[in-house]
Amino acid sequence: MPDHPCSPAPGALFTGSRVKTPMYEDPAIFAEEMDRIFTKTWVWVAHASEIPDKGDFKLSWLGTQPVIVARDRKGEVHVMVNRCRHRAATVCEVKKGKTSSFQCPYHGWGYALDGGLRGVPNPEQYGADFDKAKLGLKTLRTESYQGMIFATFKETIEPLEDFLGPARKWIDLFMKQGGRYPVKTMGEHQFSFPGNWKIQLENTTDAYHFPIVHKSFLRSLDEEAEKTFTFLDGAGFVEDLGNGHSVMVMIPELVDLEDNLDAPIPERFQALAEELRQSHDEQQVRRIVRAVGGSGFNLNLFPNVACSMAFFRVLRPINVKETAIRHIAIGMEGGPEAANRMRLRLHEHFQGPMGFGSPDDSEVWERVQRGAAGARDLDILVNRGEDSPGDDGPRGHVSAETGMRAAYTMWKRMMSA
Ligand code: FES
Ligand code: FE
Repeated sequence: MPDHPCSPAPGALFTGSRVKTPMYEDPAIFAEEMDRIFTKTWVWVAHASEIPDKGDFKLSWLGTQPVIVARDRKGEVHVMVNRCRHRAATVCEVKKGKTSSFQCPYHGWGYALDGGLRGVPNPEQYGADFDKAKLGLKTLRTESYQGMIFATFKETIEPLEDFLGPARKWIDLFMKQGGRYPVKTMGEHQFSFPGNWKIQLENTTDAYHFPIVHKSFLRSLDEEAEKTFTFLDGAGFVEDLGNGHSVMVMIPELVDLEDNLDAPIPERFQALAEELRQSHDEQQVRRIVRAVGGSGFNLNLFPNVACSMAFFRVLRPINVKETAIRHIAIGMEGGPEAANRMRLRLHEHFQGPMGFGSPDDSEVWERVQRGAAGARDLDILVNRGEDSPGDDGPRGHVSAETGMRAAYTMWKRMMSA
């Protein structure tokens, strides 16, 4: 029996600088990915603020496997496979809500918030060996960092913090968007595109496309903001952070949002600053204004979540040629309403369904998939930019394809394991 039922072997599909077309097209590769990647590593499932109170739950996925993320009566978070232990029906189809238990709609088996089987209707027909203690929902190992909740099917995996490694310091910086308030999610929208999940994965730390694909976004900005977003000739960089993670710094002066708070406030934030001055001291006004504009970098966490400037982007593979994307807006828990309102408006401006950014991204991702159907023997190039040693791994020019190489190196490692 060959190591890999798919053909060609995954190891041959990424050469370090080139990707082979079956990566986007081969259903056998996709099936292997769902097994060798999405059940073998830490996968992002939720942010703690999506389920803040006892009894809160939301649906999520590890690859194509449906799970429920729930907070029990003690406040502990559990991630459970959304599959009844009787005959496999999903026990919950409500995307998000509050409950005291989950009841399967088929024959009524009831489960607690921690997945334990509470009761079954008419139990007398089961034999003496029917053990409720062994028939709870399958629960997964769950850990979180800075409110980002991850789960895994692999019991023996390294702790989440080790898996994140140097990416942790970037998560810490990203969370400064709370402006000293806790970061909270403020709603989301979902769309899907007819393309492979890795086409999106490649995009989060791809600065090269920005001035081309996002021309209409750039045109919609005032002159000062347009200058901020013209970063291809700047001092930014992309760095491989290990384990498939990477960071792309576009606007170096906005890496640490608490640095240089005395710098002039951009014109587009003046009205907000004025409003905040009525109830906050000048330092806090500046801190909040800075936080509203978002971080100057995109962090890509392998395999399924990005902390992208000012929001979370979560990808979910549906099949080899279809991917669902969630854009989750974030803001300040307990922060000034005017600041959170402006964050939402900025989010909509680029990432929203009618935004000036995301629809253009989605269009090119779709075109990558369509184009890949032609001359399948040609390679996809991810060789742009020469890397040199950075703080935590290979670092390249801001427009280098270092982040893609980082992700595909991890992909290859996991697929060949
Ligand atoms: Fe859930 Fe039967 S399938 S109770
Ligand atoms: Fe883009």
